[in-house]
Amino acid sequence: MQAIAVLPPGMEDQGAKELLTLGAKSVRLRQRSVAFEADTACFYRIHLKARLPFRLLREVARFSCDDPESLYIGIQKAFDWRHWLPPSTSFRVDVSGSSKHLNHSHFTALQVKNALVDLQRDIWGKRSVIDLEQPHLCLHVHLNSQGAVLSLDGSAESLHKRGYRPAMGVAPLKENLAAGLIEMTGWDADMPLVDPLCGSGTLLIEAVSSALRMAPGLNRPFLLMNWIDFDENLWMKEKQLAKSLQCLGRDLPLIIGCEHDPLIAKQAQENICSAGLERLIQIKNLHFRDLLLTPQRGLIVCNPPYGKRIGLPEELKSLYSELGEFLKSRASGWQFWLLSGNRDLSPFLRMKSSRKIPVSNGGIDCRWMQYLIR
Ligand SMILES: C[S@@+](CC[C@H](N)C(=O)[O-])C[C@H]1O[C@@H](n2cnc3c(N)ncnc32)[C@H](O)[C@@H]1O
Repeated sequence: MQAIAVLPPGMEDQGAKELLTLGAKSVRLRQRSVAFEADTACFYRIHLKARLPFRLLREVARFSCDDPESLYIGIQKAFDWRHWLPPSTSFRVDVSGSSKHLNHSHFTALQVKNALVDLQRDIWGKRSVIDLEQPHLCLHVHLNSQGAVLSLDGSAESLHKRGYRPAMGVAPLKENLAAGLIEMTGWDADMPLVDPLCGSGTLLIEAVSSALRMAPGLNRPFLLMNWIDFDENLWMKEKQLAKSLQCLGRDLPLIIGCEHDPLIAKQAQENICSAGLERLIQIKNLHFRDLLLTPQRGLIVCNPPYGKRIGLPEELKSLYSELGEFLKSRASGWQFWLLSGNRDLSPFLRMKSSRKIPVSNGGIDCRWMQYLIR
């Protein structure tokens, strides 16, 4: 299969590495995505185990089109709709990209939908229901200057939603972005891990689930199970394998999250319990200045407020200064990674970074900054 993994901007390299580890071939980096080839077993494995993609798309056709009419005709001819889209199958159309005369994604989606339901009426005299939430089939059309790429989406819901986070604190990180950030630190569960401003606990939950090799897709419903060529035996085999490779009983070094807001600290605890990780992650409802670190040195990660969605600039300057003081006075020898979404605030740490990796957090241009604390 030709496939695409849609990724958080800045995570293309990490996403490609993850796909290669899971057996993908011909991995090619693109902007915000990675193209790859996979056999069916590998495609299933990636759905079950990949932590970084938002979406996994199976490419089924490419055709040239440059206006609404050629899109309408092209989509009808592009695929074996007689087998894949009988009127009993509900569907949804998602659109990305644009071209000169197809530059409004909502209109493009309607045009694709019209082409398909008109075709269905011609063949069967009736049409499918459009279901935006729980369709049987989710079609993805990507437009560029050469034409359209038609894909099937393996899941109706974005894969970053793992299901463990009913409570979201304020300005939470998306789970897949948090997983990629942890991956970039190189933490491999060999040293303590602390998030002094942990909010809903996403960085810690993703770090620990990855260390336990938990497969995020094990309990998720996937649309690929509705595809006419779905191989149930192979799916069950890959599922069993993914389950057997988890090491849920593994002991880990101390992992601590600190959150000063009692309500958010409680939500973090609830999220950790719903992810089944309460044995391994401790939440302290404290200001970080009162947090005691272990004598064994480790890794500190954090995503402080940037003053864009939360926090007032003056308060945040003193928060960053105090964080810098805390790190220099208490965490000598530790490694620190900060997700900075406001370049006017990070200088208040009064520390010199050794790496800055551009990433995007929900549209905010950020830097994942590494500091070696002396
Ligand atoms: C941007 S949010 C972190 C979001 C988190 N990464 C997540 O995914 O949910 C920053 C968090 O720091 C907390 N915070 C702010 N000042 C703090 C302090 N002095 N000590 C501990 N927590 C603090 C806020 O209450 C907020 O929940």
